[in-house]
Amino acid sequence: AKKIKLGLLGCGTVGTGVLKVLQENYHDIRAKIGNDIEVSKVLVRNLNKKRDFNGDVVFTDNIDDILNDESIDIVVELLGGIHPAREYMLKAMENGKHVVTANKDVLAQFGKDMFDAAEKHDVDFMFEASVAGGIPIITPLKQCLTANKITELIGIVNGTTNYMLTKMTEQGMDYDTALARAQAKGYAEADPTADVAGLDAARKAAILSSIAFNTRVSLEDVKVEGITNITPEDITYAKELGYIIKLLAIAKHTEDGIDVRVHPTFIDKDHPLASVRNVFNAIFIHGNAVGDTMFYGKGAGERPTASAVLADIIDVARDMGKDRFGKIRCTCYEEKKLCPPDK
Ligand code: NAP
Ligand code: HSE
Repeated sequence: AKKIKLGLLGCGTVGTGVLKVLQENYHDIRAKIGNDIEVSKVLVRNLNKKRDFNGDVVFTDNIDDILNDESIDIVVELLGGIHPAREYMLKAMENGKHVVTANKDVLAQFGKDMFDAAEKHDVDFMFEASVAGGIPIITPLKQCLTANKITELIGIVNGTTNYMLTKMTEQGMDYDTALARAQAKGYAEADPTADVAGLDAARKAAILSSIAFNTRVSLEDVKVEGITNITPEDITYAKELGYIIKLLAIAKHTEDGIDVRVHPTFIDKDHPLASVRNVFNAIFIHGNAVGDTMFYGKGAGERPTASAVLADIIDVARDMGKDRFGKIRCTCYEEKKLCPPDK
């Protein structure tokens, strides 16, 4: 049988996690795929950087070593940001390679281009890790809940800010220390402004609502306010009133249209979302058939995110060489009315 070969773009927090978990669970993963699988090459920026992985992998700083390697079947994009990640993924698909990514920036702004390219080149484009780290949420929305008319989705979808707010609330930690700790744990984006300004959560809200409401919602459609203006006084005031502050993503589909927003919210200390602490994320979804559902788990970090990336890799690898009948395509969507921006 053919050995499945991966080209990994990036070996930071998530890329390192993918290498480690693949090595650790290799026996089971191989059995589930029914084929050998290996990481052929890993793209990094700095070849001299010391890596936290002992296995046998070939590093390169030249993207062509991966994109032009005909033996590579799946490109796993874990660079972050839009450029050059977007161009590398498009080129990979043009070259007939399946793509797995954790990149919400590209999804929230250029998702349609990516799905169109996957359709055009008849390859898979998978992105489970782009929202809520290790929590299965994209696949459940695309598959398990797809029979429903989904009307509401509310979640804590950013691990960095939830970790910061937890430390600021429970330990009185100051904002800068809390952010530095979240960065040290590998939760934050390379530029953590995206986390604290609410943009990372807004990107995830756009991705989730596009799938939930079967339309296209992009970053520009989301009303966003982050946690940068939250003061210790706000936190104390909330506590005195019996509330806790959480950064929520709220998406609703009503007769008025689709409304998607991200902002800090006072929630009752007894509300289920109040118990979602530190790096954990949670997402409530209401569907007209299923009723209320809730998804909960670690929303960021090396191993939880690697869990989601590897799930996509295994899914693609399992189907390779078989008739891909039944594979989910993302190009069948409708234009729907969006609520106007707030005045
Ligand atoms: P990271 O730690 O900053 O790692 C990025 C990696 O990409 C590094 O190995 C870096 O190389 C490499 N890289 C970046 N730009 C490059 C370029 N132009 N050419 C070659 N190599 C380049 O990032 P991360 O936290 O692993 O995140 C990766 C992706 O996963 C992002 O899209 C992020 O949003 C997403 N994500 C992250 C988490 C998380 O918990 N961290 C969770 C879910 C999703 P060097 O090592 O040589 O610098
Ligand atoms: N920076 C993101 C977060 C990583 O803190 O949630 C996971 O997408």
